[in-house]
Parts: sequence; C-alpha cells; structure tokens
Amino acid sequence: MAGVPAKNSKYLKDIEGARRDLRALISSKNCAPIMLRLAWHDAGTYDAKTKTGGPNGSIRHDHELKHGANSEQVKAKHPEITYADLYQLAGVVAVEVTGGPTIDFVPGRKDSKVSPEEGRLPDANQGAKHLRDIFYRMGLSDKDIVALSGGHTLGRAHPERSGFEGAWTKDPLKFDNSYFKELLEKSDPDLLKLPTDTALVEDPKFLRYVELYAKDEDAFFRDYAASHKKLSELGFISP
Ligand code: HEM
Repeated sequence: MAGVPAKNSKYLKDIEGARRDLRALISSKNCAPIMLRLAWHDAGTYDAKTKTGGPNGSIRHDHELKHGANSEQVKAKHPEITYADLYQLAGVVAVEVTGGPTIDFVPGRKDSKVSPEEGRLPDANQGAKHLRDIFYRMGLSDKDIVALSGGHTLGRAHPERSGFEGAWTKDPLKFDNSYFKELLEKSDPDLLKLPTDTALVEDPKFLRYVELYAKDEDAFFRDYAASHKKLSELGFISP
C-alpha cells in the first residue's frame, strides 16, 4: 500500500477505535494469548542485515494464527488500518488487558505482500545458541530474549499445533512474572518448559535476568515493555 497516513488525525482516530474494539474482543473471547503470539510471529521474522521480514502484516497468510486470533472482524470495522499496525496493536492490548505493562504504540507500519521464507522463528527444541542466533539476527539482545520469553506467562501449547502440551503458569490469562518463578522453582511438574525455556536457566547470562524478573515484577514489566516495543518496531521508521 502507499504511504501510511500515520500523522493524519483520521488514521489516529481509527487506531483508537480499533484499540477499544480489541480490548472488548480480547476480553470477551479470552484470546489474549493467541493475539500476543500473532504479533510476535509477524514481527519475529525480521532480519536486520537484509531489512526484510518484521512487523509487516505478512502473517495474515498464516490461516491458523489469523483465524484463531479473530482479528478479521476488527479489520473489517477499521479497513484503513494496515494489518501490520492492527497485529502489533493487538499484541499491545493483549498484554494490557491481562494485567501486564502499558506498551507505547506508534502507528504507521506498512503492509507487505511478501512472506519471509520459513524458518526465521525460533525452534523450541533448541538451546541458548539458537536463541541468540535468531534474536541477534533481529538486532535484539540477551536482555530482550529473556524479557520477551516472559510472554509465555500467557497461553499454552497445543499438541496438534506444536507437539508440546500445557501452560507455563497456573493462570495463563494473567500477565505477571510467574513464568520466571516457575522456571526457577520447578514446583509443578505439570507446567510446561520448552527446551528454549530451560535454556534460560542453564545459560549464566540469561539466568541473571531470570533471577531478577522472578524476584522483581516491576523490573520485568519495565524491561518487557521496552523489549516488546522494540520487537513491534523492527525495521519500522515512524513516518
Ligand atoms: C506459544 C515457542 C517466544 C508468545 C508457543 C508455543 C511454542 C512456542 C512451541 C506453543 C504453540 C502451540 O502449540 O499452540 C516459542 C519459542 C520462543 C518463543 C521457541 C523463543 C524464545 C515467544 C515470544 C512471545 C511468545 C517472544 C511473545 C512476546 C507466545 C504465546 C503463546 C506461545 C502468548 C501461547 C499461544 C496460545 O495460547 O495459543 N511459543 N515461543 N513466544 N508463545 Fe512462544
């Protein structure tokens, strides 16, 4: 699409309308986890070297995530908003309505018709080196890796989707620091730990942040909000 009228007041009004509709939708359908995952999967394909991928709406071709997230009805009501902005706004609202930090949202992302090649998102069966390969490619840091992994405070894994099963925390619709507490305490064997989650306690540099976030929820919220904003703006230059 042509230039996005981000500074245009009509577009900003549409964004505020969509924000309200997303709050209502996410609360009534309890779909915060899949909305957050949708935003992450759209953004997490970014490659800083080639400046390809990133939050550009191309995840709309992923039927499972798109339908599961029900975002189409908000798009139908606010057709001017780009998919790229809509998905990132949905991620921000999902964190907010489940009790997480407020994340600054700047509109103006453009949509791309080109989906990046498969294999840019992390593989849950791997470890710390792989996490660094993937997140450094996006231009993100060790702190971003640990803070953003805290997104697993929401939701669960489904055997038919990923082969993994279960939730990471006892209340998967509440955004808090329990993901980090459970990683350290290992008190409930029914809670899920992916190999990439376990990697965060096995790697000493990652572990420092896990320990900080487990004991200090304010520190987690502050760092999460900053890392989530970065993720949501990869390759995006505010128009
Ligand atoms: C779910 C892997 C990072 C948010 C999942 C699932 C896997 C996975 C395997 C289960 C999917 C299913 O079976 O439905 C990973 C890996 C990551 C990562 C390997 C590397 C660090 C993130 C990040 C976020 C995130 C950065 C957001 C900030 C979520 C959410 C769900 C989820 C909210 C639950 C979805 C639902 O309940 O339907 N992830 N993830 N993940 N992931 Fe991640």
